[in-house]
Amino acid sequence: MKTTFRAIAAILVVASLVLITSCKRQQPSAGGGSGAGAGSGGGKGGGTGHKEQWVIGMSQCNLGEPWRVQMNEDIKKAAAEHPRIKLILKDAQNKSEAQQAQTKEFISQGVDLIIISPKEARPLTQPVADAIDKGIPVIVLDRKVEGDKYTCFIGADNVKIGREAGKHLVKLLGGKGNVVELKGLMTSTPGQERHNGFMEGLAGSELKIVFDADCQWLEPNASKEMNSALSRLEKIDAVYAHNDPSAHGAFLAAKQEGKGREKTIKFIGIDALPHEGVRYVKEGIMTATFQYPTGGKEAIDVAMKILKGEKVEKNITLGTMIYTAENVEKGGETIQ
Ligand code: FRU
Repeated sequence: MKTTFRAIAAILVVASLVLITSCKRQQPSAGGGSGAGAGSGGGKGGGTGHKEQWVIGMSQCNLGEPWRVQMNEDIKKAAAEHPRIKLILKDAQNKSEAQQAQTKEFISQGVDLIIISPKEARPLTQPVADAIDKGIPVIVLDRKVEGDKYTCFIGADNVKIGREAGKHLVKLLGGKGNVVELKGLMTSTPGQERHNGFMEGLAGSELKIVFDADCQWLEPNASKEMNSALSRLEKIDAVYAHNDPSAHGAFLAAKQEGKGREKTIKFIGIDALPHEGVRYVKEGIMTATFQYPTGGKEAIDVAMKILKGEKVEKNITLGTMIYTAENVEKGGETIQ
């Protein structure tokens, strides 16, 4: 009797051991790699090292401008190097409401990390904060949100770029002249910062802003505003445009006027894409362009660190370069 009892007990112990081991083996690695609806388990924000797949949701404010198309290309290329990343790219078509909705959707989907390049600061501040409250890390790229409720901001120093553009024009015009400022969207931080920096660069000179307008970063708007400036003002020495498409739009308006002013006015812009601003400088259309790196590759590098649970800097400042007729064939010049 005793022996039978011992045998049964031994069988039970062995059976339960087998059961425990097989249960352990069957446990899915958290997240399961299902794309949408991913992000289960793994302590979001603090590193999800053991997951098989990380879902990154990226909300791009628009894809109507070449610079933004380049940013998405840079993100896709960098993400393709990491087989564990599944990237969901969304285009908000230049509508803040659409971008708010996309951020909400990423949160309810439970993505592992969000990258956002916000159209405007204020409307996107709360959605980004909501993601942080839910434990989803957020990388804010190029344009800022208000306050400091985000994981990491990556972008070039727009105040510095504006200041350098101002200093460059002061030198170019011998300290005196009439300037048209074609601003970017002034509810976005690069517009505000590029203007503030520019004013710093002009300080102490006799350069005057004789006309300014918010062109919302768009070439057709810049052409229209430049038409008004040209019809009102006899003497325009330079155009400081917050981006290259606007500088180009201003150039086209001056050319269309038919008085040859496109040859005497100095057109300065920002972005310096090889097939855009840099080309315009080579062709003599623009006097100078300042590089504004997209930060796409850096965003993926930082995302990987966050997802692995590594610490990252709160603000990452990217460098800039200047391209002029003198240095463009040599590949531009770095600004310290
Ligand atoms: C594209 C763009 C760029 C500019 C950047 C500023 O949407 O207008 O031309 O440098 O955004 O955020």
